[in-house]
Amino acid sequence: MTPRSNATATYTANPYLPLPARIREVRPENPRVKTFVLEPADAGAEAAFSFEPGQFVMVSVPHQGEAPISISSPPGRGSGLTLTVRRAGRLTGAMHTLGPGDTVGIRGPYGRPFPMAELEGRDLLFVAGGIGLAPLRSALLACLAARERYGALTVLYGCRTPSDICFSRELDGWNAGEGLRCRVTVDRGDAAWQGRVGLVTTLFDEVDLRPERTSALVCGPEVMIRVVLDRLEEMGLAPETIFTTLERHMKCGIGLCGHCHHDGRLVCTDGPVFSKAELASG
Ligand SMILES: Cc1cc2nc3c(=O)[nH]c(=O)nc-3n(C[C@H](O)[C@H](O)[C@H](O)COP(=O)(O)OP(=O)(O)OC[C@H]3O[C@@H](n4cnc5c(N)ncnc54)[C@H](O)[C@@H]3O)c2cc1C
Ligand code: FES
Repeated sequence: MTPRSNATATYTANPYLPLPARIREVRPENPRVKTFVLEPADAGAEAAFSFEPGQFVMVSVPHQGEAPISISSPPGRGSGLTLTVRRAGRLTGAMHTLGPGDTVGIRGPYGRPFPMAELEGRDLLFVAGGIGLAPLRSALLACLAARERYGALTVLYGCRTPSDICFSRELDGWNAGEGLRCRVTVDRGDAAWQGRVGLVTTLFDEVDLRPERTSALVCGPEVMIRVVLDRLEEMGLAPETIFTTLERHMKCGIGLCGHCHHDGRLVCTDGPVFSKAELASG
């Protein structure tokens, strides 16, 4: 498998040594998800904040463990590094108790990113489920920052319930953008929900794609990914132009421990971004 970039480069001599990162801001996304805006606690540690969309960092809280979390901000100076974290267990639960001024450890960035250069000149379809919008937000904001390099941008976002929606403050703005469409649906509405109800795949009926010039970026629960990838191929997208992220339990994050083994690949270094063609040849 050809690496798309030198994505596993580390920034300290000891790859297991986390870099302290100060929490600058915490933005609640919904009752279970918060976005943390980080800045390096040590002067001169900017290298760790240089990353590409689709990459992740290993985040640690002392005595609570470590977990892989995707970077949700776009690359580039001044954007900072944001992590959008769902409270799942020990590490993420501990993170949710932290606030501005507190410090977490990060190592990375790790993993193969989305092939942003390869996507230039193409229409892009972003399909996200729940917190899967986090790594896609990094890629989408990178496209918006270099708008002339990409064709039409479409975001299809599905969540289980309205209270699972992330980045709700941004979704309306994305819908109003030029050459940018954003459609949101929930599996189950509530009394206040006036939007669409149905799985994310129901949104495919609302978009008019040009399959030969469209690439797709997909992230969400594994069951959603499987259905969406098949649907995209049925719609005429070539498997080489469909990119998704895979999630596996990770320990080292750098290809040493084997914990993230999947069909002969290590998700931490061969992925987490794979094309459908790569997955089919697994
Ligand atoms: C490349 C990558 C990127 C990720 N990006 C994000 C992100 O941006 N935001 C986010 O909130 N989460 C993300 N995750 C998932 C996140 O790493 C897990 O939720 C986290 O490890 C849970 O750690 P914990 O110590 O809080 O929970 P634990 O106490 O370890 O586990 C809580 C529960 O979650 C399950 N679990 C833990 N890790 C995973 C996993 N990788 N896949 C499925 N189930 C798991 C456990 O089995 C357990 O049931 C990502 C995972 C990967 C591999
Ligand atoms: S997490 Fe250790 S090899 Fe991937």
